[in-house]
Amino acid sequence: MVRTSCHRNVRILLLGDKGVGKTSIILSLVSEEFPEDVPLKAEEITIPADVTPELVPTHIVDYSDAEQTEEQLIEEVQRAHVICIVYSVIEEDSLTNVSSHWLPFIKKNTPEPHCPIVLVGNKVDLTNDSTYETAGCIMDEHPEIESFVECSAKTLINISEMFYYAQNAVLHPTAPIYITDKQE
Ligand code: GTP
Repeated sequence: MVRTSCHRNVRILLLGDKGVGKTSIILSLVSEEFPEDVPLKAEEITIPADVTPELVPTHIVDYSDAEQTEEQLIEEVQRAHVICIVYSVIEEDSLTNVSSHWLPFIKKNTPEPHCPIVLVGNKVDLTNDSTYETAGCIMDEHPEIESFVECSAKTLINISEMFYYAQNAVLHPTAPIYITDKQE
């Protein structure tokens, strides 16, 4: 089933455990290079419509446990049109926490239908292994996950794609799709 949408802008929130690379992903997208020094939290970024593939202004919002209270996080979760849950492909706990913490947290704090989710495995430059199988099991249990992508803020692999999938999850939500860096 293809759902339709009438969004005039897209608000993307990045969530996930500490140190998985949320801020680095945002700054890599914006500067097209890996930032060696990153702040705890990136300022909210607005990408003008004319430079987005879907021609829709896009706001990108970072999250930092060190800089935000839980109330502020809940407010951001409720404002988001799509949430990218980021984990690190080399830190198993950060993937376990996707299903044990982040997905239940989003469900608890947003009304149904829950906003679409993009599952993002970062730091693929540090391993040859893929988390595709585990991520696939999580997707099977959580239909709100629209897509899955493995990326690297360091090498920029799949970074612009990740934001495109997030935009797409809002503007053209469909059945789940799987994307990994191993695909052509
Ligand atoms: P918090 O602000 O603590 O929530 O962390 P964060 O999720 O924003 O992670 P951050 O961007 O601060 O990155 C944490 C560390 O991982 C930094 O040392 C980054 O340089 C490193 N890092 C981020 N992305 C990548 C990546 O794709 N590959 C590699 N090798 N390192 C990365």
